[in-house]
Amino acid sequence: MKTGSLEGKIVVVTGGGSGMGAAFSRRFADDGAHVVVNDVNEAAAGSVADEVSGEAAIFDVADSKSFDAAIDRVVAHHGRIDVLINNAGIAPPRNELKTDINMANQMKRMEGRYDDLEPGNYTVDLSDEQWDRMIKIHLYGTFYGTRAALRHMTPQRFGSIVNISSIMGLRPAAGAPHYSAAKAGIIAFTKSTAQEVAPFGVRVNAVCPGWVDTPLLDAFDEMTRMGIRMQTPIGRLAQAEELAQVVRFLAGPESSYCIGDVFPVSGGWV
Ligand SMILES: NC(=O)c1ccc[n+]([C@@H]2O[C@H](COP(=O)([O-])OP(=O)(O)OC[C@H]3O[C@@H](n4cnc5c(N)ncnc54)[C@H](O)[C@@H]3O)[C@@H](O)[C@H]2O)c1
Repeated sequence: MKTGSLEGKIVVVTGGGSGMGAAFSRRFADDGAHVVVNDVNEAAAGSVADEVSGEAAIFDVADSKSFDAAIDRVVAHHGRIDVLINNAGIAPPRNELKTDINMANQMKRMEGRYDDLEPGNYTVDLSDEQWDRMIKIHLYGTFYGTRAALRHMTPQRFGSIVNISSIMGLRPAAGAPHYSAAKAGIIAFTKSTAQEVAPFGVRVNAVCPGWVDTPLLDAFDEMTRMGIRMQTPIGRLAQAEELAQVVRFLAGPESSYCIGDVFPVSGGWV
């Protein structure tokens, strides 16, 4: 449904070249916003930017200087920034050996063979570099973007920031401790910054998606997807557009009393 209530608003979406970020960009454009589509993938960002008649901004959210420069450029060009969606993210790469161990362990649990369980070693096998990159993109990226946007939003006395966390930040599961830690950190960061800037007309909120059918999950095999469907009360993965409705609500004036609030959109998972 087009409401037009974002007519002329300047919106920056990180990781806008794919999945949810692309869906958010389309949703904002549908409501009249001018969307700045960030991504590290130049072709993907350019394609979405063209589609929504917006502009692409190619930079790595884990690079604070680039993030600062991009937000400053947006404000210099458009006179303000109304909305920032901190969405860019990565998932751990597929590891078939660990998937097999996990599946075998589930069988052993069902058979009550607890002594035969094999360690998944997700934490033990995590390198410093893998840990750093995950935390850098998600948690540092969210901090860098928020700081860069607040430098303009606080003085202008308006703005809305939506941070994309995850159900893994609310209810972590074994398998990606660095991802869960980053997403939980985003929730605490959201609440803290929201309280700081609420008196100045700026709102910060977070969304915790459940399992969403985007390229991020390309690494998941059919067995894993089936397991997700079985454990999700609604019985399916979300479509990115379903998340876009909630993010759109939080970005706009309709959510004026939402401050530091955290919204699971989980199909019943949490
Ligand atoms: N798909 C899910 O099930 C799910 C669930 C919960 C949370 N999330 C979160 O939602 C967000 C979007 O995920 P998605 O599923 O749409 O994934 P996606 O892979 O479809 O899109 C992510 C985009 O972010 C970009 N990106 C990655 N690193 C970047 C960086 N350093 N700087 C700028 N751009 C970068 C990628 O190029 C890609 O275009 C992520 O933060 C993810 O952790 C996803």
